[in-house]
Amino acid sequence: MQISRLILIIWHIFGLPLCFAKVYNNFRDLPSKHYDFVIVGGGTAGNVVANRLTENPNFSVLVLEAGGTNANAFEIEVPYFSTRGVQPQFDWNYSTIPQNALNDRLIPMQRGFVLGGSSSVNRMFYTRGSADDYDRFAAVTGDEGWSWKGVQKYLAMNEKFERPADRHNISGQFNPSVHSFTGINAVSLPGFAQNIDSMVFDAVAELGGIFHFNEDYNSGKPLGFSWLQRTVTTQGHRSSSATSYLAPEFIERKNLDVVLNTRVSRVIPSRSNQSSSGLAFRTVEFVHDLDGPRFTVEASKEVILSGGVFGSAHILLNSGIGNSTMLSRLGISPLVNLPSVGQNLTDHPIVETDWLVNSTQTMDDINRNTTVSDEDEAEFNKTGMGPLVDSSAGNQIAFFRVDESLTERYGDPSAGRDSPHLEMIPGNGWSGIPPATGNFFSLGIAVVSPASRGSMTINSTDPFAPPLINPGYFSSPFDIAAMRQAMRIALKYASAPTWKGYILSPFGALANITAASDDDVLDEYIQNSTFSLAHPVGTVAMSAKGADYGVVDPDLRVKGVEGLRVVDASVFPFITSAHTQAPAYVIGERGAELIKANYERG
Ligand SMILES: Cc1cc2nc3c(=O)[nH]c(=O)nc-3n(C[C@H](O)[C@H](O)[C@H](O)COP(=O)(O)OP(=O)(O)OC[C@H]3O[C@@H](n4cnc5c(N)ncnc54)[C@H](O)[C@@H]3O)c2cc1C
Ligand SMILES: *[C@@H]1O[C@H](CO)[C@@H](O)[C@H](O)[C@H]1NC(C)=O
Ligand SMILES: *[C@@H]1O[C@H](CO)[C@@H](O)[C@H](O)[C@H]1NC(C)=O
Ligand SMILES: *[C@@H]1O[C@H](CO)[C@@H](O)[C@H](O)[C@H]1NC(C)=O
Ligand SMILES: *[C@@H]1O[C@H](CO)[C@@H](O)[C@H](O)[C@H]1NC(C)=O
Ligand SMILES: *[C@@H]1O[C@H](CO)[C@@H](O)[C@H](O)[C@H]1NC(C)=O
Ligand SMILES: *[C@@H]1O[C@H](CO)[C@@H](O)[C@H](O)[C@H]1NC(C)=O
Ligand SMILES: *[C@@H]1O[C@H](CO)[C@@H](O)[C@H](O)[C@H]1NC(C)=O
Ligand SMILES: *[C@@H]1O[C@H](CO)[C@@H](O)[C@H](O)[C@H]1NC(C)=O
Ligand SMILES: *[C@@H]1O[C@H](CO)[C@@H](O)[C@H](O)[C@H]1NC(C)=O
Ligand SMILES: *[C@@H]1O[C@H](CO)[C@@H](O)[C@H](O)[C@H]1NC(C)=O
Ligand SMILES: *[C@@H]1O[C@H](CO)[C@@H](O)[C@H](O)[C@H]1NC(C)=O
Ligand SMILES: *[C@@H]1O[C@H](CO)[C@@H](O)[C@H](O)[C@H]1NC(C)=O
Repeated sequence: MQISRLILIIWHIFGLPLCFAKVYNNFRDLPSKHYDFVIVGGGTAGNVVANRLTENPNFSVLVLEAGGTNANAFEIEVPYFSTRGVQPQFDWNYSTIPQNALNDRLIPMQRGFVLGGSSSVNRMFYTRGSADDYDRFAAVTGDEGWSWKGVQKYLAMNEKFERPADRHNISGQFNPSVHSFTGINAVSLPGFAQNIDSMVFDAVAELGGIFHFNEDYNSGKPLGFSWLQRTVTTQGHRSSSATSYLAPEFIERKNLDVVLNTRVSRVIPSRSNQSSSGLAFRTVEFVHDLDGPRFTVEASKEVILSGGVFGSAHILLNSGIGNSTMLSRLGISPLVNLPSVGQNLTDHPIVETDWLVNSTQTMDDINRNTTVSDEDEAEFNKTGMGPLVDSSAGNQIAFFRVDESLTERYGDPSAGRDSPHLEMIPGNGWSGIPPATGNFFSLGIAVVSPASRGSMTINSTDPFAPPLINPGYFSSPFDIAAMRQAMRIALKYASAPTWKGYILSPFGALANITAASDDDVLDEYIQNSTFSLAHPVGTVAMSAKGADYGVVDPDLRVKGVEGLRVVDASVFPFITSAHTQAPAYVIGERGAELIKANYERG
């Protein structure tokens, strides 16, 4: 490693092109200007597409990534450090517009600004969603390839189930028959035992009803309490699309180039295409410095936008692809009228609830006491084990449906009877940076089948001005009713006999609240404390071929144009009832296969 770094430095001194280094810091160093495919965004899905397309030596691929490298970033590598939040240098620094239902607060909307995209900064929960979620994708797009049955292949190509770092007996904690051990991206059960592990399941057994054990929530039927799976390797490191799909054996391929620090502004129609009615968008415009000159690169086959839920929609709008009326008013020449661009933005709102506990054996000190943190770091560095190998303070996850009275009253926004509306995440400690004193038990609660929809739009002809992001949290009455119910479920769970003598008292504003409190009391807590679970999707939604809404066809081609696809979490036609990275990997894997099939045919 040291020697190769030395060679690199010498190479730089002599100003030689870095032909063997396949990740470039400046597009001027690229060895070629001719590529079959240009992928915009080296994020979660983008790197999957880059990897799969370059399996065919006949295809050359260029990836343009706005952020910098993930290499040697210890804060990214260590799973537990993700609880400290995304570091600003790896973030797009977005926040929402004022959210009416949340006292007009601006909610931070973190997105990875680094190779690997959000998979380099996320919390690593590996949740596929329900079978119903994918069957709904298939139903609304008219493409069985997106059904639960259809996507099994892509889940298997993605997942490489591994032993956890430091817990050896995992029998009964997952169902091996629903996992793949041969994919690219590492997935594992918790690597560090928490002293509350058994209590979490004891409370479930005591309460019964909606509180029940589920051997494996990734089976397509997520309801109940399960052991949590994360994208963490046996060595206790984060597995991102950058560490897995761009591992050295892949990045070495002669037909793959990745360039960092390259921000794409627009796609441009190359030349009019006589043989088809639509414009062909095969030219990508980008900059190295935001206020510097703009350059272009052309793909001989296709441009693939993988800029994520905000990046891809932003580039389309900058390019004149969107609501033509809105674009004209803004002063951008409309080229393709697709009013759904940016619409139907959907996210999961989350609320934290915390209790003081009669224990010092919680994870709290790691994020507030450097002596403790340094000790854990030393253990991590030496053995790849200890408390830092997990990306949260708890080892379980739970999913619930709301009472039928609610779905009868408001309609059911979930994808089907086996799909959750609510998620609960128990933690042996505060989730994030805790108060200066106290040891905590926490329950994060989220609405994972929300009815609310928002939008993302632009307010400037400057392609680098931040977009206006409005997830529309709680704009639908179902969602606030569901969140109240989630709070009552959390309060009930924390009152199980097992926790007596362990849980001492509810913390902060929760002190005045019980499961019997009035709705307004719960609502005030929800309004003050809701934030984003960081799962926005849907701004470039798929719809059936010929549908009068939607942005991409089920094969992820932008409707009505040539040479342009979108492959990332922006294409979800509905939000999944789970954290969104596994579904984003599915989009990447199937997207790549659809593209390959197109050009390998002949
Ligand atoms: C803090 C956080 C925690 C999360 N926790 C979890 C979790 O625990 N489990 C889970 O399943 N999901 C989680 N998620 C969500 C999940 O990570 C995302 O849904 C998923 O990674 C999105 O993948 P993507 O390919 O759509 O976009 P991204 O992975 O975000 O990739 C987009 C890429 O495009 C680049 N880009 C954007 N615009 C441009 C441009 N103009 N020019 C060039 N490049 C550009 C970006 O820099 C980025 O690299 C979390 C997300 C965040 C941010
Ligand atoms: C690559 O192209 C060559 C020549 O056209 C062809 O024979 C070969 O099958 C192609 N390889 C793949 C993997 O498609
Ligand atoms: C976000 O802010 C940090 C500094 O606080 C900066 O380093 C980073 O480049 C910013 N991200 C973007 C996309 O501008
Ligand atoms: C592993 O755990 C299972 C389930 O808790 C238990 O039945 C089994 O005895 C354990 N095996 C060993 C070797 O400890
Ligand atoms: C023109 O359209 C045809 C048919 O869709 C396609 O095969 C061809 O690659 C396109 N050419 C250009 C230059 O966009
Ligand atoms: C397009 O935008 C205009 C102006 O904001 C709006 O009035 C119109 O409803 C939008 N069109 C569609 C189809 O959404
Ligand atoms: C939003 O999604 C719904 C399906 O949930 C669809 O009927 C509607 O047309 C979409 N709206 C837009 C503007 O795309
Ligand atoms: C930090 O942890 C160490 C080791 O447990 C302890 O001795 C010290 O008192 C703690 N510091 C603070 C400020 O709590
Ligand atoms: C652990 O390793 C990282 C990265 O190599 C280093 O920055 C850090 O100082 C080390 N920590 C300890 C406590 O040794
Ligand atoms: C849109 O941009 C204009 C001009 O920069 C600004 O005055 C206005 O406040 C912006 N609107 C929003 C919602 O940010
Ligand atoms: C805390 O736990 C200890 C035993 O571990 C017990 O003696 C003590 O009474 C408990 N304190 C409270 C306030 O429940
Ligand atoms: C609880 O409610 C009382 C009475 O409304 C109020 O004075 C107190 O500040 C509240 N406590 C917390 C922690 O919010
Ligand atoms: C909610 O926030 C408002 C304004 O900051 C504050 O006055 C109120 O006490 C908070 N209520 C709760 C329950 O936290």
